Amino acid sequence: MRDEAFTVLSQLVRDRSGLVLARDKEYLLESRLTPVARKHNYMTVEELAQALRRPAAPDVERDVVEAMTTNESFFFRDASAFKVLRETIFPALIAARSAKRELRIWSAACSSGQEPYSIAMMLDENRARLAGWRVEILATDLSTEMIARCRAGVYSHFEVQRGLPAQLLAKHFAKSGDGWVISPELRKAVDFRPFNLLHEPAGFGAFDVILCRNVLIYFDVDDKAKILNRMARMLAKDGALLLGGAETVLGVTDKLVHQSGLIGVFMPTPPPAPRLATAS
Ligand SMILES: C[S@@+](CC[C@H](N)C(=O)[O-])C[C@H]1O[C@@H](n2cnc3c(N)ncnc32)[C@H](O)[C@@H]1O
Repeated sequence: MRDEAFTVLSQLVRDRSGLVLARDKEYLLESRLTPVARKHNYMTVEELAQALRRPAAPDVERDVVEAMTTNESFFFRDASAFKVLRETIFPALIAARSAKRELRIWSAACSSGQEPYSIAMMLDENRARLAGWRVEILATDLSTEMIARCRAGVYSHFEVQRGLPAQLLAKHFAKSGDGWVISPELRKAVDFRPFNLLHEPAGFGAFDVILCRNVLIYFDVDDKAKILNRMARMLAKDGALLLGGAETVLGVTDKLVHQSGLIGVFMPTPPPAPRLATAS
């Protein structure tokens, strides 16, 4: 691919999604954008790039950006993260919110929905304790195709075999054609919406738990910092942010601190303690 075509495509993807594509990812652009080029009647990816040098139809740009997202996910991904949620974070929050009886969780970059549905299944285990509470799970992703998949709640046989314990499959899913469909109760428990992490999350409110896992690895440090600082502001003082196992805030922001002993768990940095003025 010529440099010019690579620049047009990678710049568009970066501007619209934050995903950084280095030159060695040319093969990825070629393989993922060939079907997009064909869909929009261009013979080659180079021709598609040429067309995108001028303002293009929004659906062409959207298809290019969405094709470059990596949507890998599975149920209860990273056993250690879900163990911490089950054994430490949720018990502490449920105790701390016993008067307010409200819990708000955001799965940012939820891909095909396994992450927020895993949370919904986990909170269902606490159904008796949470009776009468307002529990909200917001799940967002840049990809409108992924959000449509999440809302449908249909998973292949392969997908339900990845991370989902057999008793939860039996409890929350029904066989549907070749795959499995999640129960209407769990579908209702999660509010799925398209949302771009580069944008200001207007009207989202505050959260007790934010999961932003396995997406910031693709972003440059400035975008990471903007997103993490925003999330730090949106978290309750005793709330928790969960990043992917390979992700950290170190060298990116000081608005969040790692919780020692808990891999991938961060909390808003407490304000400095007030100090008595000393007489001079
Ligand atoms: C690898 S998946 C992670 C899914 C899930 N969080 C997990 O850990 O299993 C990354 C997701 O990030 C989404 N994504 C990429 N750029 C985004 C952006 N700027 N705003 C919101 N979502 C984005 C992609 O569409 C993709 O579904």
